Amino acid sequence: MGRYAHTLSPHLKEHMPRKPYNWKNGPDLIQQHSIAKHRILQSYLAAYFRTLVSSPNQDVLRLTLVDGFAGGGMYVHNDTQELVKGSPFIFLDATREAEFLINKDRRKPIDLQVDYFFIEADHHAYSHLDKVLRDGGHGERIGNTIQLRHAKFQDEADGVIEFIKRKSPKNGRSIFALDQYGYKEVPAPLIRKIFSQLPSAEVILTFGVDSFLNYASDGKLTQALLDDIGIPDILQGRTIEEIKNSEKDWRLFIQSGLYRTLVTRCGAKHFTPFFIRNRKGHGDYWLIHLSQHHRARDVMIEVHWDNNNYFIHYGGPGLDMFQIVGYDPEHDAQHKGQSELGFEFDDIARSASITALNEHIPRRVYANDEGLSFGELFATTCNDSPASAAIYRESVGFLLEQKIVEVINPDGGKRRSAQQIKPNDQIVAPSQRQLFLS
Ligand SMILES: C[S@@+](CC[C@H](N)C(=O)[O-])C[C@H]1O[C@@H](n2cnc3c(N)ncnc32)[C@H](O)[C@@H]1O
Repeated sequence: MGRYAHTLSPHLKEHMPRKPYNWKNGPDLIQQHSIAKHRILQSYLAAYFRTLVSSPNQDVLRLTLVDGFAGGGMYVHNDTQELVKGSPFIFLDATREAEFLINKDRRKPIDLQVDYFFIEADHHAYSHLDKVLRDGGHGERIGNTIQLRHAKFQDEADGVIEFIKRKSPKNGRSIFALDQYGYKEVPAPLIRKIFSQLPSAEVILTFGVDSFLNYASDGKLTQALLDDIGIPDILQGRTIEEIKNSEKDWRLFIQSGLYRTLVTRCGAKHFTPFFIRNRKGHGDYWLIHLSQHHRARDVMIEVHWDNNNYFIHYGGPGLDMFQIVGYDPEHDAQHKGQSELGFEFDDIARSASITALNEHIPRRVYANDEGLSFGELFATTCNDSPASAAIYRESVGFLLEQKIVEVINPDGGKRRSAQQIKPNDQIVAPSQRQLFLS
């Protein structure tokens, strides 16, 4: 039995996708696929800080970092037995490193005014986190810049939102990491509330898609539960049995509906869903980044491209990647490989993305006499593509070279190469082609 010996109520067990951590006797074991998630958080925070402080005249940056499911703060790696830091330390270390990197070459240093909320419902985890934060030299910050709460995130959310509104009234700049075990602790309306009150908030949500599907498969998914999670319309008036009987791949059917409903109900303009795959074969989950600005999404997409070992994104490489969103070969007896339908963030995927965009972009551009601006092209299609702005630029550069499109700057001049392209430039069909067509 060992360190997982604590008992759970049968009701809670049903909803547990992964073995819950237990910090009763010190740090608990962590598996490699959870470390992948830590890497992403780390890389994202580093990229986030870099993007935010790009103006040379800035002298203060106000930010609030919320770890709504903070855990016990420290783990032991299951394979290597090394100590591994949990998400609260990832937040603290990312800020410290960013402060150093940002200011090392600046004449006028930027004052990073960062507040942290670490919220943890479990008593042992909370006490362990308190201890390791103090051991790590953060004791004096607890109660000042670090708010450590032994509570449920749902119960603290309103207070946290109010704090952020007071601190950053203009934009509510904040990141919420909501690393729930399963799928029901963060109802969609709660995320919608965060976005409606804090325009610059970003949310990184863990959603246990496998456990959701298993729960559904066992026939336990009720309308009441869906109402509680704030995604009432997934079943579209049918029962799981009816869906199973009529849909060839009912898991795929539910996942597509689930994903679309979830992001719509959360009220975010931009989003990226990614699978994190448990190599042991079950317990896959989504890490969904939600934000209100396409630039934030682009930063996250770049992070995914940089960490391609950890992510498999099922979908196509062009502007229609969600046609087969959530396809999981593990659940398809006919298909055991990943390369045919799976999308991985590697060099092959990069060139596949460019090829697909090379086909899709002209269609968009030709659909309208005036074409569209590069900024508009990216902002209106990026949610449906795994490509980053850099990849879009590369594709438009190729189309320019091939004379399939022209790119006109705001003064009416023509751009010659991908590097020159700016968001306000207009991508249009080439004049010769228009003559030819008319
Ligand atoms: C997946 S673990 C968090 C791991 C942590 N984010 C990390 O990366 O180190 C989920 C944690 O959320 C806690 N928890 C469960 N329900 C919660 C709730 N409603 N509000 C806050 N914490 C909760 C659990 O006790 C557990 O420690």
